[in-house]
Amino acid sequence: MDAPNAQQTPAKKLTPSMIANYLDQYVVGQDDAKKILSVAVYSHYRKFGKRQLGGVEIAKSNILLIGPTGTGKTLLCETLSRIARVPFVTANATSLAQSKYVNEEIEALLQRLLDKAAGDIVHAQRGIVFIDEIDKLKTSDGEQRGTSGERVQHALLKIMEGASVRLGSTQTIDTTDILFICAGAFVGLDSITATNHAFGFISVDDSDNQKVLDRLNSRVKPTDLFKFGLIPEFAGRLPVVANLQHLSKELLVRIMIEPRNSIYNQFREVLKEDGVELEIAHAAFLQIAEMAFEYKVGARSLRGIFEEMLAPVLFQIPDRPEVRKVVIESLYEEPQLLVVV
Ligand SMILES: Nc1ncnc2c1ncn2[C@@H]1O[C@H](COP(=O)(O)OP(=O)(O)OP(=O)(O)O)[C@@H](O)[C@H]1O
Ligand SMILES: [Mg+2]
Repeated sequence: MDAPNAQQTPAKKLTPSMIANYLDQYVVGQDDAKKILSVAVYSHYRKFGKRQLGGVEIAKSNILLIGPTGTGKTLLCETLSRIARVPFVTANATSLAQSKYVNEEIEALLQRLLDKAAGDIVHAQRGIVFIDEIDKLKTSDGEQRGTSGERVQHALLKIMEGASVRLGSTQTIDTTDILFICAGAFVGLDSITATNHAFGFISVDDSDNQKVLDRLNSRVKPTDLFKFGLIPEFAGRLPVVANLQHLSKELLVRIMIEPRNSIYNQFREVLKEDGVELEIAHAAFLQIAEMAFEYKVGARSLRGIFEEMLAPVLFQIPDRPEVRKVVIESLYEEPQLLVVV
């Protein structure tokens, strides 16, 4: 399915399951996060034009994506931005924190949103802002209070709450209805939530109730995030938390094969240019996944291992026009270059 076209399909027809299906084409696994994001984006669209449903004002629910490194947080949001029918911009909290002029940076971010909306201020005011690396705002030990990380959060708080921000000399943008999605790896959060269990909801014996309580207890609480430098006001403004899971070896194999632009597909296309068919056995994918799993950086190391495996092939193919097919049975064996007659 291609990204549904804004002009062709009325916005109300883009249901949460359609958004999730689109995400499925590029992002493997992470079903919980996909559901939460799809529902949030769907609700965000639906709200337009009627901020009051049945006389009740519908508040937006900004989202926090939490998950280990290399498991798809940035990828999910980038993919979402392609299907979103509202202007979508991304920013990086680390670079905001490095800037001397945080407010100017934020103005520039909102200006980009306006540019994405082709200058239509009403459309821009319904946009989505994605802020990545939000867990990297922690002040390092020697620094004073009120340093960069906190300044960034205060500046962001203002626009998350809804503010009128001047853009240039003539225009102002109202940020009340802009949806904010933040993401961060929050390394070590698992152990923080685990130790906090006992202080959460009190356990009971009844097993069904126990399940609900377990779920509530395992929720990430705003207080868990303080250790990462998030100030209470900021953590409190991200009410929806979506957790991404560690990628299993099976998921790592699927990541190399299944997405539309998977590594396997990319290299098959590269070799096709030279008239060569590439075939890699499942066993080889599993070996790569096992190696990548040990590196503990999610799917990030897959490409490196994959390219290393293919390097001898890519080196030889241009000099060997008679080769028509390359077969790789194992990561630990030489690739077979076949001349088909
Ligand atoms: N669930 C997934 N499905 C498909 N590809 C994935 C998935 N997770 C990661 N990848 C691959 O790994 C790369 C890195 O993932 P991504 O940038 O989304 O990580 P991240 O969760 O944002 O990590 P970090 O916390 O380090 O920023 C992606 O470009 C993609 O190629
Ligand atoms: Mg990322």
